[in-house]
Amino acid sequence: MDKLLITGGTRLNGVVRASGAKNAALPILAATLLTKELITIKNLPHLHDITTMLELLGSMGCGVVVDEKMSVQLDVSTLNNCEAPYDLVKTMRASILVLGPLVSHFGKAVVSLPGGCAIGSRPVDLHLRGLEAMGAKISVEGGDIIASVDGRLKGARIFFDKVTVTGTENLLMAATLADGKTILENAAREPEVVDLAECLISMGAKIKGHGTDTITIEGVESLHGTTYPVMPDRIETGTFLVAAAITGGKVRVIDTNVKSLEAVLSKLEEAGAKVTCGDNWIEVDMEGRRPDAVNISTAPYPAFPTDMQAQFVALNSIANGVGRVIENIFENRFMHVDEMLRMGADIEVSGNTAIVRGCERLKGAPVMATDLRASASLVLSALVAEGDTKIDRIYHIDRGYECIEEKFGALGAKISRVLN
Ligand code: EPZ
Repeated sequence: MDKLLITGGTRLNGVVRASGAKNAALPILAATLLTKELITIKNLPHLHDITTMLELLGSMGCGVVVDEKMSVQLDVSTLNNCEAPYDLVKTMRASILVLGPLVSHFGKAVVSLPGGCAIGSRPVDLHLRGLEAMGAKISVEGGDIIASVDGRLKGARIFFDKVTVTGTENLLMAATLADGKTILENAAREPEVVDLAECLISMGAKIKGHGTDTITIEGVESLHGTTYPVMPDRIETGTFLVAAAITGGKVRVIDTNVKSLEAVLSKLEEAGAKVTCGDNWIEVDMEGRRPDAVNISTAPYPAFPTDMQAQFVALNSIANGVGRVIENIFENRFMHVDEMLRMGADIEVSGNTAIVRGCERLKGAPVMATDLRASASLVLSALVAEGDTKIDRIYHIDRGYECIEEKFGALGAKISRVLN
């Protein structure tokens, strides 16, 4: 199993390009199931999760042609089954995103019920309840979600008890081909939801209100092909900006979306970073200073994103003062803490709150990645720790960060991948 070997103590300095957003690419690839016309999706990140989604579409009989720049052309006209099998779904929960498009376009779907994952039980009850409200017949047998509808789904008014990103995305996609109007209330406002909506609109969907908590969709008979570039990854961008802050360095992230990280940028400024922005770049300059501890409370967009929580626990672990981090979205998203304690961090977790007392230096140690964003926070901790850190199980990192050692290496980090 690959490991990352990092020697800490270098201030990062330089320019790095943001890759396409994993969490926009996954629903957009699923949306290609809504038309039989050719679709080209550009700016896809070269990540394991993207490969898994392309494998899933291929296993349904779709034509998948990937070029060297990770643009992909999809041909759904050759689809010959509507199944998402357990062996693929268990490796990537986001496979659930094919459910809405399959039922809406083909009238049926068999999708393995995604299990929980390291960060929580991750139920999909809101996805299923929404599809039932639109007239789908849903049953769960032998671990599979079996969904079907005679004719077309019907437009419906759907209120989400909880803000759910992929739940909003699944029902947004399903509603584009439904008969009549669908109103999604208490919908997710994440930029990735907006990117999906913009892609659907480029395919001929009639959508209004995306980016707000109420999305209205007028169903159409059919959608046509499109060529669509995926938005830049705001969480990867935020991770590199925190890397500058934690090492006292200066990093500019280019080809990124300045408007999707307001809550994160304001916390970086509160931590003492100098933050500047251009049309498509964001720069953090820590000017060699140690950051000040900040308090974080995660919530749906536009509030502070849960996917940046672990990175700020790492920042607080070497900051001046004490930072309180409250995780309100997932029930078990502090697994990075136990690994950081091995590096000398002073963190106390009680329920959904972590109290982080900043210390002068962390010490390198062998640690283990547990989930995608937790593993990124271990890289950040290792960058600023004394000595060597070896991070095991880095397949978690490869799911969400493209060429991580090349990108951090280009910023001056002493980082290499140890193959074994
Ligand atoms: C998406 O997951 C992202 N994944 C996650 O990113 C991200 O952390 C999360 O949104 C929150 O922003 C993708 O977009 C592929 P939710 P999702 O449904 O949609 C509860 C990463 O690191 N809920 O918004 O699965 C749920 O338990 C990943 O890239 C229900 O109760 O998250 C959670 O407490 C990790 N019933 C809350 O809602 C449901 O039917 C928010 O979950 C659905 C969700």
